[in-house]
Amino acid sequence: MVSESNRLIAQRYQLQRELGRGGMGVVWEGYDTLLNRPIAVKEVLLPPGVPPAEQERQLLRTAREARTAARLNHPSVVAVYDVVEEDGRPWIIMELVRHPSVEEVVATTGALPVRQAADVGRQVLSALRAAHEVGILHRDVKPSNILLTDDGRAVLTDFGIATAEGDPSLTKTGMVTGSPSFLAPERVRAAEAGPASDLWSLGATLFATLVGRSPFERGDPMATLNALLNEEPDYRRIPPIMHPILKGLLRKEAHERVTAEEADRLLADIIAVKAPPVDPEPAPPKQRRGSRTLLAAAVAAVVVAAGGITYLKLSSPAQGSSPPPIAQPAAATSALPSATPTATRTSTPTPTPTRVVPLVRAWKSPDGWSIVRPTGWRGARKESYTEWTRPDRTAHLGVEAVYATLDPHQITRDSEEELRQSAPDLRVVRRGAVNHQGAKAVEWEFTYTAGSGGDTPWAMSGRRYHEVQRAITVGQTAYILTWTVAETQWRRNASLMRQVIGSFTVKA
Ligand SMILES: Nc1ncnc2c1ncn2[C@@H]1O[C@H](COP(=O)(O)OP(=O)(O)O)[C@@H](O)[C@H]1O
Ligand SMILES: [Mg+2]
Repeated sequence: MVSESNRLIAQRYQLQRELGRGGMGVVWEGYDTLLNRPIAVKEVLLPPGVPPAEQERQLLRTAREARTAARLNHPSVVAVYDVVEEDGRPWIIMELVRHPSVEEVVATTGALPVRQAADVGRQVLSALRAAHEVGILHRDVKPSNILLTDDGRAVLTDFGIATAEGDPSLTKTGMVTGSPSFLAPERVRAAEAGPASDLWSLGATLFATLVGRSPFERGDPMATLNALLNEEPDYRRIPPIMHPILKGLLRKEAHERVTAEEADRLLADIIAVKAPPVDPEPAPPKQRRGSRTLLAAAVAAVVVAAGGITYLKLSSPAQGSSPPPIAQPAAATSALPSATPTATRTSTPTPTPTRVVPLVRAWKSPDGWSIVRPTGWRGARKESYTEWTRPDRTAHLGVEAVYATLDPHQITRDSEEELRQSAPDLRVVRRGAVNHQGAKAVEWEFTYTAGSGGDTPWAMSGRRYHEVQRAITVGQTAYILTWTVAETQWRRNASLMRQVIGSFTVKA
């Protein structure tokens, strides 16, 4: 897709940078040059292959519904300021919410505590009720359409945006794009959408806030459709206190679902419970984005948000800290993260010397680079930063792409300066130019004690880490690879490190 940064829409709205993209379009951060205020702009795009007549119908409907949604004035609804048409498609101008979506929060910090999930559910429900009262359906309630502010406010975005995955004319032809895992059965069966369909999606969304994904997600769109039509969710990992609300919302027959009023009462009951209920499975430890925000200030203006926000679901038992057996790269994973668990390893530490478990898997980034990464580490990707963290936080791998022509020496020097601020005891082991698959690169190795938060949020504060950082310049892009391991485990992970770093390849 052509870069549209700085493009002016309707001679007024400036596009600045891409915030993310989904099945139906791209969301930009932008600026209203008339009112001088920041805005978010949704460019509505239909997936390729939609017949022209159908395209027109959908685009018209989207524009009409967005205009209707603009009338909604509710604290839990992202305000729509304007809808304009340009290049034959609608552009929705809306309130910029600089906060992560529920999808992002769950992927980076783990499942929400039960009461917080119920509270988010109640706020979204309140927004839906206000919309339903004036005849507006949301049609796409899912974790990525709920933004969470620091003070606990949940705001729903994307009202009325047509969803290709819900459209029967598309599903009939087998053209399912994106994931239909939050879609109500009646929308697939009979192409009927009503207020109860939004309630179903809220149920699937609440489920996802507790276990990380929709109860019907099967990785493959057709398998997911089949699951939502024919299978009951697996409630074993859901705290019992949440069962009544979820079972009430996830009734396959729309007329059997709880009403919005009943749902609100059930959620209020959960919030009112005095002692916080105990989760059967504790949420994973807090793990935020681990970027060092290398050179962030200097190059912020040229860092391109590539490909939106994707999280890799890498659910595997903790990787043991035994010496790595001979590793075999598995088949390349697709760019679309699937919910299928990656190569697993039994958690009982009985060594079976004859069985070689792959220690690494190939990962292909949608941005055109690839690497073999250790199995069992938790992955996250945001904009141009991809990272994997060993669940016990003793090791971490990061890949950051910086879209700027920079000298790799300068990158490592800046990086050192930045890290010293939170780790004054940083000690450089070595630094020098290396050749990385023919490209210019600089590698440095150092040790430091992790501070609290700051530059290495995934690390354990007070623990000594050992790191190799390699800066590689390929054309107009610099890549910064970081391999960090607890100092006490450095030696036994050295060969794995060489294998991982050496595998990094940028598509020519
Ligand atoms: N009003 C907004 N302000 C800021 N960010 C937004 C806004 N609306 C959407 N986003 C972000 O843009 C991303 C892409 O949105 P979208 O194209 O609707 O795809 P999806 O909802 O399928 O992820 C969302 O995940 C969300 O984080
Ligand atoms: Mg969206």
